[in-house]
Amino acid sequence: TELTPFKNEPFTDFSVPANKADMEAALRKVKSELGRDYPLWIGADKVMTDGKTVSINPGDVDQVVGRVSKATKEHAEKAMNAALATFETWKKVPAEKRAEYLFKAAQLMRERKHEFSAWMVFEAGKNWVEADADTAEAIDFMEFYGREMIRLSETNLHRPLPKIPSEDNKIAYIPLGVGIVIPPWNFPLAICVGMTTAAIVSGNTVLLKPASVTPVIAHKFVELMEEVGLPAGVINFVPGSGGEIGDYLTSHPKTRFVSFTGSKEVGLHISELAARTAPGQIWIKRLIAEMGGKDGIVVDETADLEAAAQAIVVSAFGFQGQKCSAGSRAFVVESVYDEVVERVRALTEKWTVGLPEQNYPAGPVSDKGAYEKILEYIEVGKKEGRLVVGGGNAEGNGYYIQPTVFADVDGKARIMQEEIFGPVLAIGKAKDYKEAIALYNDTEFGLTGSFFSRDEDHIAYAFEEMHCGNLYVNRKCTGALVGVHPFGGFNMSGTDSKAGGYDYLLLFTQAKATSRKI
Ligand code: NAD
Ligand code: ALA
Repeated sequence: TELTPFKNEPFTDFSVPANKADMEAALRKVKSELGRDYPLWIGADKVMTDGKTVSINPGDVDQVVGRVSKATKEHAEKAMNAALATFETWKKVPAEKRAEYLFKAAQLMRERKHEFSAWMVFEAGKNWVEADADTAEAIDFMEFYGREMIRLSETNLHRPLPKIPSEDNKIAYIPLGVGIVIPPWNFPLAICVGMTTAAIVSGNTVLLKPASVTPVIAHKFVELMEEVGLPAGVINFVPGSGGEIGDYLTSHPKTRFVSFTGSKEVGLHISELAARTAPGQIWIKRLIAEMGGKDGIVVDETADLEAAAQAIVVSAFGFQGQKCSAGSRAFVVESVYDEVVERVRALTEKWTVGLPEQNYPAGPVSDKGAYEKILEYIEVGKKEGRLVVGGGNAEGNGYYIQPTVFADVDGKARIMQEEIFGPVLAIGKAKDYKEAIALYNDTEFGLTGSFFSRDEDHIAYAFEEMHCGNLYVNRKCTGALVGVHPFGGFNMSGTDSKAGGYDYLLLFTQAKATSRKI
């Protein structure tokens, strides 16, 4: 059957009563399933260990979401062997067949969309809209990468090599081997699914080490892949301490590639480890590392100021600022500065904080460590800028922090330079749009950015000068869509792998050129 062209999964409109009722039913169902135990998956074996990672609801810290078995180095070694053995058969499965597993999983996830979202409401503290977008993105990744693998397998048809009379020349994109997939907790379904399915649809087998604060939703994905009949050993599920099994697996001589999304610090550490050659290793490990951001929005004097203020607030505070794409900085030209700050203040005050299950605009931050770190940054901000709104923790039995805005912040201030990964926005003043763009560019990161203007010359300048992997004009800097906005950043934001783009699967393959004399 002919494949339909890729189309993004639509978001759910929860103002429609039937959709709201469906989501409430899913929340009730998931609530009744909280607190269960989950195993490791090593080849065909499900291994329940005594040591467990306890996943709690960051919005109600007395609620246990699940207890997930923890892999030791011995488990990791067994999982590596299972992945190596399975690679020998999986690499021979035709591309269309591999893609078929992704399409089936996408369809099932679509049918149970709210259930997947509900798990993220409890485990990650996402409100309904954020959780729904996460699930939609996971579906998109599977639909997109399935189609991409088929396209790549047909390269000789669509883009034949130049012909010479005496030879038949072809190119094939073959898999690499066993990969270690290390996703972050902030898109605990979408990024976990995207990184894992890109690797396996390309013919590799993987060890998936989920983020320690969101292992239950990762397990739900692994269960789904079993349900669609993915052969055992293609995805091995090895939750555990990043430091212990993460380092072990990155250093392993049989590891062919590491696909990581997370912080700059951990990414650089993995980059160093992966660059060393272990005894017996016969390849250069490939590293795909998508890391942090210090993204921002620039507003000039011609901009629609209300639209700009709304974009600043949504980009700064959506999912409590815990997106790599979050707009944690804004630079505004001085003639409209006071007005933009005032509009941002007014909009931020409406951004109420509360339990994700009840769908407040703002929920908790991920865990205790993040909570304490963000509150410290807020204290730093009080010295570096003028507190406009927020400024501390918020009520609730969880890690709640008030959406916080600082104005008059210098471009070199810590809260302008360091990734806080929480609901903290720093605003700075510039004399004109060129200075504002220079301030925006003054960072080691380069992931997302937005420019607000109605002036074509200014916009052309911004397109050319703002240095980031995903640049937007007159819209928020979060919410990249699979396919539409291939996603990845420059400099310390990572290897610019462009997840959800036409080039992504090349990172999980190697090209073999064959030439036959005729
Ligand atoms: P993190 O770096 O703390 O953890 C990421 C993953 O690495 C987790 O699974 C963690 O368990 C694991 N890990 C930790 N130490 C390890 C080690 N030594 N070896 C192997 N794995 C190890 O990041 P996080 O807190 O989960 O996520 C937030 C960060 O991710 C932010 O910096 C954010 O900007 C970034 N992020 C980037 C993108 C992107 O596409 N560029 C997307 C989402 C998140
Ligand atoms: N892809 C996510 C966004 O653009 C991180 O917000």
